[in-house]
Amino acid sequence: MDNRTLGTTGPAVSPLGLGLMGMSDLYGPADETESIATIHAALDAGITLLDTGDFYGMGANELLLSKALKGQDRDKAVISVKFGGMRDPGGNWLGNDGRPAAVKNFLAYTLRRLGVDHIDIYRPARVDPSVPIEDTIGAIAEMIEAGYVRYIGLSEAGPENIRRAHAVHPISDLQIEYSVIARGVEERILPVLRELGIGVTAYGVLARGLISGHWSKDRQFAPGDFRSFTPRYASGNIEHNLTLVEALRAIADDKKATVAQLAVAWVASRGADIVPLVGARTRERLAESLGAVDVTLTADDLARIEAAVPAGAAAGERYAPSQMAMLDSERP
Ligand SMILES: NC(=O)c1ccc[n+]([C@@H]2O[C@H](COP(=O)([O-])OP(=O)(O)OC[C@H]3O[C@@H](n4cnc5c(N)ncnc54)[C@H](OP(=O)(O)O)[C@@H]3O)[C@@H](O)[C@H]2O)c1
Repeated sequence: MDNRTLGTTGPAVSPLGLGLMGMSDLYGPADETESIATIHAALDAGITLLDTGDFYGMGANELLLSKALKGQDRDKAVISVKFGGMRDPGGNWLGNDGRPAAVKNFLAYTLRRLGVDHIDIYRPARVDPSVPIEDTIGAIAEMIEAGYVRYIGLSEAGPENIRRAHAVHPISDLQIEYSVIARGVEERILPVLRELGIGVTAYGVLARGLISGHWSKDRQFAPGDFRSFTPRYASGNIEHNLTLVEALRAIADDKKATVAQLAVAWVASRGADIVPLVGARTRERLAESLGAVDVTLTADDLARIEAAVPAGAAAGERYAPSQMAMLDSERP
């Protein structure tokens, strides 16, 4: 696979990254043996970018990655870690902590859990509105100086905070939801990223499974499944959103691709500065996603996709209101 570089200052990474969140949290039960086999299959296939967060399963996702990395060449992996999301023992979200002392504390625990001596890309999961972003980024920059971190990323930050963060230390990439049905990044954020030479790691490229071609409105949610309180999955919206998937399926069929491959390829086609993260939890789903690398979308294909799913076509917001309120990227 041809690598892509994250921004003008970031590391070279595989053209697809693997997001590990669903292996420990938020998408119902996962199988640890299969999760580790999926991480190994990804590394074997040339995927280098592995994304986790210290709050995914309250540390469990990092412990899983640590187990998967045993006996592997750690330096082949570009480990991206999000920090700052605070949760109670029941998993409820309590807000975000971007204070400099908290940054260093989170990092100390992450290094210990992962069993590594440095993190490749370290990023606040959300902008903490009570701490100037300069302070949060400044603390990570100190950790770079000390050798514990290589690059700084952001997640769901808006234009002003992207500029302010980048003025403190070069930012490698912004992690943000981006899919054919979630295009909020395009108007105000992508131009700033391109002006500053910051890359994008796109998450939710399958809208968390909704536009994978494998979702049905009758699928039952496990208790606590994040999607059960996500507006795009809510009754009244899901019916419409699945008609969009069927429109994509007709195009995918003509390309002899699957819907998931078409959706991943669409995100990759948005620019060489964009790296889709796929949330595969099994080797089977991973193999399907990897097939997207071989799907080339012509101008004609892109026009068909645009006609089938124009910007703003999805029904419902991408997050529930309490979580939308935490998105700096969505502030006017
Ligand atoms: N920065 C942020 O705020 C943020 C937020 C969310 C996620 N992320 C990161 O982005 C990563 C990806 O996000 P996501 O999991 O929401 O993305 P996604 O790729 O849109 O959705 C993943 C889900 O889609 C289903 N799926 C069906 N076919 C698939 C296929 N061929 N390949 C992969 N998945 C398929 C899987 O469910 P089944 O296994 O049930 O089929 C899987 O759980 C996360 O793991 C996390 O690292 C970041």
